[in-house]
Amino acid sequence: MIVTIDGVAASGKSSVSGGVARALGIPYVSSGLLYRAATLLGLDAGLDLGDPGALLAHLSSHPVRLEPLAEGNRVWRADRELTDDLHSTRVDKGVSVVAAHPQVRAWVDDQLRALPEPFVAEGRDMGTAVFPHAQHKFYLTASARIRAERRAKERPDDIPDIEAALIRRDELDANQIAPAADAQVLDTGPMTLDEVITTILRAVRA
Ligand code: CDP
Repeated sequence: MIVTIDGVAASGKSSVSGGVARALGIPYVSSGLLYRAATLLGLDAGLDLGDPGALLAHLSSHPVRLEPLAEGNRVWRADRELTDDLHSTRVDKGVSVVAAHPQVRAWVDDQLRALPEPFVAEGRDMGTAVFPHAQHKFYLTASARIRAERRAKERPDDIPDIEAALIRRDELDANQIAPAADAQVLDTGPMTLDEVITTILRAVRA
């Protein structure tokens, strides 16, 4: 069984996916963390993020490993843990450029498709491009202001700056951001985290 939870930037996907996965007793995988890891490694190596050839060459000589733990995914490059460095403002800024390269998307998709079922997959295109055959699909939205207020708890920047950056990222991600036709769309604006998780669990268990 595969459950996909897609949605716009900062719509609560990771917290919701973790809660759903723990309740079901299965792992969840964050595709966004792999895009973030590719971005971080490119930035640290001083690469041009617009050059997919250089990025892919670097990624194949520095393999990245995603550990899909239910309490929170972790990402490693050899024995260096990257997880805590993946949610910086500089990675936020560069990640959409990296994620637009078809070669990088294939690098992420191959790793996800190699995972043994069951799991919850979280991202932008899990229910469309990567796992179109998934049994249960959800898509999370919320207004940009509400998302910025939530993310301000995790970033040092001001709410208006975060909101502008989220809107910009949604624009850059437009190619992979459409909900699957068979996804249940949830506006999480007026909902608590527990309400979103409960709604999804009810649908999965129905
Ligand atoms: O948590 P947030 O929505 O801010 O980001 P994320 O899920 O960690 O994804 C970071 C970035 O990776 C997105 O802005 C997209 O550019 C890219 N991404 C993607 O293109 N496709 C996915 N399935 C997941 C993430």
